[in-house]
Amino acid sequence: MKALVTGASSGIGKAIATELAKKKINLILVARRQAELDLIKRSLETSYEITVEIRIFDLSTEENCHALFETCKDDHLEIVVNNAGFGCVGLFENLELETELKMLRLNVISVHILTKLFVKSMEQGVILNVASMAGFIPTPNMAAYAASKAFVYNLSEAINYELKRTKKKVRVLSLCPGPVNTNFANVAGAKTGFIGMSAEKCAKIAVNGITRGRHIIIPGFGMKLTKFFLRFLPLRLILPVAFALQRKKDKISAK
Ligand SMILES: NC(=O)c1ccc[n+]([C@@H]2O[C@H](COP(=O)([O-])OP(=O)(O)OC[C@H]3O[C@@H](n4cnc5c(N)ncnc54)[C@H](OP(=O)(O)O)[C@@H]3O)[C@@H](O)[C@H]2O)c1
Repeated sequence: MKALVTGASSGIGKAIATELAKKKINLILVARRQAELDLIKRSLETSYEITVEIRIFDLSTEENCHALFETCKDDHLEIVVNNAGFGCVGLFENLELETELKMLRLNVISVHILTKLFVKSMEQGVILNVASMAGFIPTPNMAAYAASKAFVYNLSEAINYELKRTKKKVRVLSLCPGPVNTNFANVAGAKTGFIGMSAEKCAKIAVNGITRGRHIIIPGFGMKLTKFFLRFLPLRLILPVAFALQRKKDKISAK
């Protein structure tokens, strides 16, 4: 069996790659940083006696998404993890448009393209799209990021339903983590992140969710509970809480 993991050079993607390697699944790992991927390849091949291939791509361009697909369309992948992504923390009017557009190209367009290409080409298997708890609610101070993850979650749920109805043996699942301790907050320009779950624990739950065919995977009891109660709370109560929590991360507001 072979799996592809994007954004595998750190954080959740690296941890998911490791969990899959433990199950003796051969891997194609994708990211921009060659040196990190080389180290991970060596470590996984030595520890788990699997084959790991590396593909260096910046997935924030459409051409590169198509180019990545071309390199692995004959690999008969059974698991595809669309994990590469990043966030931008700050007030909408302060954030650089170019940074946000790059984020949308990666978080939304690349996930859309790769999901489309693999749904069409796979005979059976699982596509795991990494969304976020932020995708369940409008999130002031992280507005575009949360909206990008709402896209990923809604797209995945709808396609998964279509595939079930058409009896195709491909499933599109969404992983919706709350805070996870990775490089995410740094890249997002946040002063601090929330204290979260380890990437290893998140990955274990994600891979377990793939095995069980769970269409929405929410790591951690606290986050499952939050998701449950969100449906009863009106937005006028949710928005101020979300805003207060997110503002704590903001470098500008901290001055
Ligand atoms: N950490 C959290 O609290 C949290 C919560 C919910 C959801 N998520 C989601 O989880 C996913 C992984 O994030 P993380 O927390 O593990 O952060 P991370 O440690 O910063 O990992 C991000 C990964 O994406 C890759 N990446 C970034 N830009 C890329 C690009 N243009 N092309 C290809 N690869 C790119 C990075 O590799 P290179 O830099 O080498 O390209 C890295 O491997 C993201 O989709 C994020 O939105 C994170």
